[in-house]
Amino acid sequence: MKIEGCTALVTGANRGIGLGFVEELLAEGAAHIYAAARSAEDAATLSAMGDGRVTGIVLDVTRPEQVAAAAAACTGVSLLVNNAGAFNRHTLMRAPDMGSMRHEMEVNFFGLVAMCRAFAPILGANGGGAIVNVLSAGAIVPVPEMGGYSPSKFAARAAGDCIRAELAGQGTAVTSLIVGSVDTRMAEHVKGVDKASPRDIARAGLLAVRHGLEEHDTDRHAVEVRAFLARDPHRLRLSMVQRMAKLQARWQAEGTGK
Ligand SMILES: NC(=O)c1ccc[n+]([C@@H]2O[C@H](COP(=O)([O-])OP(=O)(O)OC[C@H]3O[C@@H](n4cnc5c(N)ncnc54)[C@H](OP(=O)(O)O)[C@@H]3O)[C@@H](O)[C@H]2O)c1
Repeated sequence: MKIEGCTALVTGANRGIGLGFVEELLAEGAAHIYAAARSAEDAATLSAMGDGRVTGIVLDVTRPEQVAAAAAACTGVSLLVNNAGAFNRHTLMRAPDMGSMRHEMEVNFFGLVAMCRAFAPILGANGGGAIVNVLSAGAIVPVPEMGGYSPSKFAARAAGDCIRAELAGQGTAVTSLIVGSVDTRMAEHVKGVDKASPRDIARAGLLAVRHGLEEHDTDRHAVEVRAFLARDPHRLRLSMVQRMAKLQARWQAEGTGK
């Protein structure tokens, strides 16, 4: 897939990795970028970016009418970047109710699938194109303190594999990005870890799309998690249990049970 000259749509484009994708797409010569944000104000800011190649659109991926409106308006798309994501920082067992994990599933899994369903005919009509799904190291290793987030990313990764097979006949490639640790609002609570920049992730993601990779680890943290998983899955699971115990002790001391 060629990035130069393509028309892309990026969800969650107003900040973080999504904005990094818009900036990299501009730098790599995309013809047009639909930059999606949940608020009209953010969409207007995005439209003012660059040199007329960015159109901000309002899109909440959990709202079917907005997904349908985006598909009706953006018929030239050949690259769909499913970047929008939610992480509510609760655990599965101690969250006050199931609301936060349902929300993570709605955005990270159902929202992603809804976008693929809406744009599959468009990608097909435009020669096949590509879908890139921004996933997480939490999609290959269950991370207990992440509550519904990690399971939602596992589900999204599985969906991506199914969609790749379903859309192979129309020539649409599907790339899953396994993202480790990035300097964005979602990860601002993570301390003492080297974080990649949003543009680094976008650059790695577009490289993966260009080469038609099915799955790509975008940064050092993701590569390390993958290596640990391959080397010693039992020790990795044990380290998660130990890490959870430490966190629970800390939350108890702070009175901040999640
Ligand atoms: N940061 C990391 O270390 C890291 C690691 C692994 C994976 N990721 C993944 O990278 C992606 C981008 O996250 P980020 O780190 O850039 O975080 P971020 O700065 O928190 O950005 C999240 C983006 O998703 C948007 N969003 C949330 N719910 C949405 C919905 N229902 N519909 C449409 N957009 C929605 C947000 O919009 P608003 O501004 O309106 O809230 C925002 O633009 C996510 O899929 C995340 O899971 C991040």
